[in-house]
Amino acid sequence: MEKNKTVLDIQRMKAAGEKITVLTAYDYPFARLMDLAGIDMILVGDSVGSVVSGYDNTLPVTMDEMIYHTRAVVRGSSSAFIIADMPFLSYQIDLVEARRNAGRLIKEGGAQAVKLEGGENVAATIRAIVDMDIPVVGHIGLTPQSIHRMGGYRVQGKEDEQARQLLADARAVQEAGAFALVLEGIPAPLAQLITAELDIPTIGIGAGAHCDGQVLVIHDILGLCEKYSPKFVKRYADVSATISQGIADYIREVKDGVFPGDEHSFK
Ligand code: KIV
Repeated sequence: MEKNKTVLDIQRMKAAGEKITVLTAYDYPFARLMDLAGIDMILVGDSVGSVVSGYDNTLPVTMDEMIYHTRAVVRGSSSAFIIADMPFLSYQIDLVEARRNAGRLIKEGGAQAVKLEGGENVAATIRAIVDMDIPVVGHIGLTPQSIHRMGGYRVQGKEDEQARQLLADARAVQEAGAFALVLEGIPAPLAQLITAELDIPTIGIGAGAHCDGQVLVIHDILGLCEKYSPKFVKRYADVSATISQGIADYIREVKDGVFPGDEHSFK
């Protein structure tokens, strides 16, 4: 029987210079397909709010929704390492709530690690969760839960002062005990510098080629979400076209009395 990867596998990959592959998934069938394809880590992202639930941003996503999606992904995966996002307001109020909610994603969701957004400002929260023996992934740069502070989804760290702060954030996240760090929407040279400074692996999204791994949203790479098309996304398939064709064929065949045929009917 195959066993899910662990933090030790991820650390080994970093040490060996092997790139770490990560994709988001929110349900059983996608998790299963990713697993079969050999993905290293699956992130049950709060991007579920945008690409599955149809919200404008990730802010409305709840703990119960994250647990529901995490359970489905865990059932579909027997080899990838599973990370669940902590949604907005699940870790910002106080350390007790943060610890309880991180624990729920592990106990009720079945995740192996949690991810939360922020740098120096969440270092104490990361430490409190790591102290419960829950592996934590940090996330700095373009942090979608900060959309209103950033004034939109904008590349972060272009100015020197911001870049210095991001480097300090990265160090604080590592120091607090996180085992990996997502770098989102920052200039490639800054991501390269942060990656060289840290011992823990960096996972980039819109952060250039020098991170230790890459993460993308599955709906973006398969052409399943037309809403946004960020520059950093590469589309590997156009699944929308295939799905639309299948639905159109079904409608036509039912209207024309072609489906169901004898082979789909009981005698
Ligand atoms: O929610 C998410 O999918 C994420 C990734 C984009 C890193 O946080």
